[in-house]
Amino acid sequence: MTMSPELLLAVREKFHHADSCPYQGPRAFFENAGGSLTLKAAVERTAELMALPDNQGRTNVASQALMEIIAQGRADMKLLFGTSSGEVFIGESGTELLGRLIRNAVLATEDGRVIGSHLEHPATYSACRRWAKVAGRRYEQVPFDDTTTVVGVDHYRPVITPDTAVATIIHASPVTGMHVDVAAIAAEIRAVAPDCFIIVDGIQHAAHGRIDIDDYDVDGYVVSGYKLFSRHNFGVAWVSDRLATAPHDQLDGAPANVWELGTRDTSAYAAFSEVVRYLEWLGAEVTDDDGMEPRELIEQAAVAIRDQEQDLVDAMMWGTGGLPGLGQLDAVHVVGPTTSEHRSGMVSFTIDGHDSLDVVDALNADGVRTHARKRDYYSAGVLEPLGLENCVRASASHYNSRAEVERMLATVNRLAGS
Ligand SMILES: Cc1ncc(COP(=O)(O)O)c(C=O)c1O
Repeated sequence: MTMSPELLLAVREKFHHADSCPYQGPRAFFENAGGSLTLKAAVERTAELMALPDNQGRTNVASQALMEIIAQGRADMKLLFGTSSGEVFIGESGTELLGRLIRNAVLATEDGRVIGSHLEHPATYSACRRWAKVAGRRYEQVPFDDTTTVVGVDHYRPVITPDTAVATIIHASPVTGMHVDVAAIAAEIRAVAPDCFIIVDGIQHAAHGRIDIDDYDVDGYVVSGYKLFSRHNFGVAWVSDRLATAPHDQLDGAPANVWELGTRDTSAYAAFSEVVRYLEWLGAEVTDDDGMEPRELIEQAAVAIRDQEQDLVDAMMWGTGGLPGLGQLDAVHVVGPTTSEHRSGMVSFTIDGHDSLDVVDALNADGVRTHARKRDYYSAGVLEPLGLENCVRASASHYNSRAEVERMLATVNRLAGS
């Protein structure tokens, strides 16, 4: 079910700059894969806590309060991730955390190969390549399906061997917008290599669908604050109990399961808690049941987000406000199938006769924020197998509206000559 206009308004009210860019003025924001809108509550809490001079681990009341905020943040991270086991901690960014998990997983194993896929972001494959080489291991990236733009069990199967030591999976692609079946791929890996460390990049997926770590049977999961309604300058990682206690970078003498390095930014933990409170609020708004547990509310929010984003994707693809959609215009080519159960809130496309970078500029001039993906070191790994030089990426989130989609389609229709 899609959100009522009143609820959508209430949702948008919770975020900064939903309607308008402080530099440009009114604009529709379809750059959510570049970073979501930021919750006002996350900004407020950040400012409040950043002003405090106190450090953690002291006996004074301010320090005690900070420790409680961090403990609450950790509990909220596990709640959102759908797990009660393992450890959660923050790092500099998603890239830094993926690199740290992969490095430590590779170096914690004696031998065995490292595997991943060509759908992955360089944050994952760069670390795999580097640390496999340093450790003298073989690294292999499996191809994805260039029609569905998804990677699955069948792609991984040929490279899974009993000596596979580390495997990586991207939960959703920030180029094609498709999510993959993490649990199925992980099960296939475990069946052949039960002790493999499986690390998942959840950075693109986290704002678009639920996370159920307890169901995945993996060892690492990473998200970024700014992609999940929070802010820049931190990512969150979860590690399984097994990976948590494997040898890893830490201070000599620290407890074996500690992954945090140095003094923590309490405001990042608090900002993440605000994201979880928001999702609980949204969950409560879309259900009649007053007695729901926090995790159930988060699951309800995930359903509402998925439904709302599907409606936005339908509007992008099949038109709205009397304008034809991306899937209907002869001059427009959508990346991946026009209909796919894997698509989560994003449509990438090209327009005949127009460089995608120019299309992004034209959309910007009309007050529609999108982004071009081109064959740079971020996206070449996905665009090359697809035979694309570049594409326009329109990435929606649940707070976008059909009116905003209409605004985007107006420009696209003009450029497509319809
Ligand atoms: C799937 C994916 N992985 C990794 C990253 C890198 O995340 P960060 O910017 O937090 O380092 C991104 C950022 O776009 C991403 O979309």
